Amino acid sequence: MKSTIVLLGPPGSGKGTQGEKLVNDFGYTRLSTGDMLREAVRNQTELGLKAKEYMDAGALVPNDLIIGLMKEKIAASSGKVILDGFPRTVEQADALGAQLDVDLALNLDVKDEELVDRLTKRRSCPNCNSVFHLLYNPPKVDGICDKCGAELYQRDDDKEETVLNRLRVYHENTKPLIDYYRKKGTLVTIEGVGDIDDIFEKVKEAIQ
Ligand code: AP5
Repeated sequence: MKSTIVLLGPPGSGKGTQGEKLVNDFGYTRLSTGDMLREAVRNQTELGLKAKEYMDAGALVPNDLIIGLMKEKIAASSGKVILDGFPRTVEQADALGAQLDVDLALNLDVKDEELVDRLTKRRSCPNCNSVFHLLYNPPKVDGICDKCGAELYQRDDDKEETVLNRLRVYHENTKPLIDYYRKKGTLVTIEGVGDIDDIFEKVKEAIQ
């Protein structure tokens, strides 16, 4: 089984959804830069205060803030690891490659039109970071996290205008990583559309 996996794919393609299933079923550690940054913003740490304006605008947080953070988290982790939301630029990918070998870059392919619908109707848990969708993956009790019982919220960057900017940023800065990992021979692309469990079956094949 692959031990170091990078989840590629545009905002809303299902990286968090599929990543959590890999954690639950196969014991991976998931390192999500988005979750780390949102926690830093909530706790008003120095990193959070610096990152907030970029995140609210749907822009990328500067490489120098993210690369150092991820270096420490990766060094502190053990066992099989999933990187969700990192790398997002070629500079980040080069820094990661200098620290460890990526066994699999899993690219979830979803068209922009569907992504806008997914993100504007997403609801997230501030406590355990589980994600739901009002139509496609609703919580069992309206507004409450199935996993930990916390009250769900809508992320600030899931408003339509910000989502459109995040998609622009993805196409310009992060999409080139598809070719980057293809050239390294570690890329697998999965169509991220359809039933979540059907997609997970393909993800399971890819990690073997
Ligand atoms: P981050 O939190 O990483 O956001 P993202 O990459 O935009 O990804 P998302 O969390 O929005 O989507 P996802 O692919 O995980 O989809 P999900 O599973 O939730 O980053 C946020 C911000 O932090 C960035 O904009 C940037 O500012 C900053 N940042 C983070 N990393 C950075 C870095 N490395 N460098 C610089 N800045 C960084 O699914 C989405 C929705 O769809 C959910 O509602 C879900 O239930 C639903 N869904 C999932 N699968 C399906 C399906 N098959 N069918 C229907 N609905 C589905």
